[in-house]
Amino acid sequence: MLDQTNELTAFDRDHFFHPSTHMGMHARGETPTRVVTGGKGATIVDRDGRESLDAFAGLYCVNVGYGRTEIADAIATQAHKLPYYHAYVGHGSEPAIQLAKMIIDRAPAGMSRVYFGLSGSDANETNIKLIWYYNNVLGRPEKKKIISRWRGYHGSGVMTGSLTGLALFHNAFDLPRAPILHTEAPYYFRRADRSMSEEQFSQFCADKLEEMILAEGPHTVAAFIGEPLLGTGGIVPPPAGYWEKIQAVLTKYDVLLVADEVVTGFGRLGTMFGSDHYGIKPDLITIAKGLTSAYLPLSGTIVSEKVWDVLVQGSDQLGAIGHGWTYSAHPLCAAAGVANLDLIDKLDLIENVRTVGAHFRAALAAALSDHAHVGEVRGNGLLAAVEFVADKDDRVFFDPEQKIGPRISAALAERGVIGRAMPEGDILGFAPPFCLTQEEADVVVGKTLEAVESVMTQI
Ligand SMILES: Cc1ncc(COP(=O)(O)O)c(C=O)c1O
Repeated sequence: MLDQTNELTAFDRDHFFHPSTHMGMHARGETPTRVVTGGKGATIVDRDGRESLDAFAGLYCVNVGYGRTEIADAIATQAHKLPYYHAYVGHGSEPAIQLAKMIIDRAPAGMSRVYFGLSGSDANETNIKLIWYYNNVLGRPEKKKIISRWRGYHGSGVMTGSLTGLALFHNAFDLPRAPILHTEAPYYFRRADRSMSEEQFSQFCADKLEEMILAEGPHTVAAFIGEPLLGTGGIVPPPAGYWEKIQAVLTKYDVLLVADEVVTGFGRLGTMFGSDHYGIKPDLITIAKGLTSAYLPLSGTIVSEKVWDVLVQGSDQLGAIGHGWTYSAHPLCAAAGVANLDLIDKLDLIENVRTVGAHFRAALAAALSDHAHVGEVRGNGLLAAVEFVADKDDRVFFDPEQKIGPRISAALAERGVIGRAMPEGDILGFAPPFCLTQEEADVVVGKTLEAVESVMTQI
């Protein structure tokens, strides 16, 4: 047996290459090791017995909350029956087929098929390949460029890291790669021209997109990808009228629309999909996280009837599609997905997102909006963010070197609540499990206020 406090820490420092972690500081022991050992509802516990209210649901993924035996049992039952069989050449497993049907039943209108992967990143990789294949089948080999947005987050692979519009994910990795382009972030609070109304800013974003398509040549632009509500880039709801205006431009130039619903899919905004929430009519939808509430890794690309018909034409011309992962539609992950979607329905969790989400966001705004260093409190459903500024009236941001966001999230963690310092800007994000109670929401708000005060009095 390991000595829990010493040996495990040493193994961690010496052998574990953590994602999104300061490698040197962690290896040298300058940042804490936290070994999480259990969880129930919205609370996690670590090996030292310390409990925390997880107001970010892991990485906005443990949507149904921790400790759901229904999902654990479904995985175990499937593991005893059939742990794995592949999905190539028409093979399948009962849960994978059942889950595909459940997803299409819940998806926005006009969706046809689900292609399963394991992560949001690989699902977006699939999207890129399908978009290129689609245009080749249609005899438009030049129509290949994909437009993403600054501050969008779509994954960490070579192509999906290119789609991502955050410097941290590009620096020293030689990203972004062609043929990926980035347009204006739909971030009203950070707009350059502060005299613009929200509607005018949406029009400005749509105009910028149109300018880019025209400059590149519409015959070269294949698709546009966006999260219904900007997530990792700052948890920013779109400005009024944004999606309607963007979609008008895409339709005009025959550009496909990919809605990346990795965060917003399956209820986070209080509707089954973010596309339903904002009136988006996508051609492809990316899903992951909330599909299994992260009990096992599973992602998917939901393909519209329009795209599917062309893909079928492609295989009639070219043969079987040359795209597959060993673990596509893995039976254990699919069993977790079926149990997870059942649980969301059975417990009416999306209704809880609406009611507790509204309570939480109102309480957060009431507690923090008037603070001298809070520029904006925003969100939708059970997604919320507080953005900090050095000067409120002139909207001056803090010097990133001061690390205000990370310091506030650390001060909050010390108080037993987990929020996330978003990677660009001083923004504290919240995305709690859907089972959050009003009382827990009030604790998150109270502790956040304390954490903000504790850091702001030091500066
Ligand atoms: C909107 C969005 N797309 C894609 C991804 C990538 O998913 P994964 O980390 O599973 O590869 C994420 C991850 O946070 C995401 O938020």
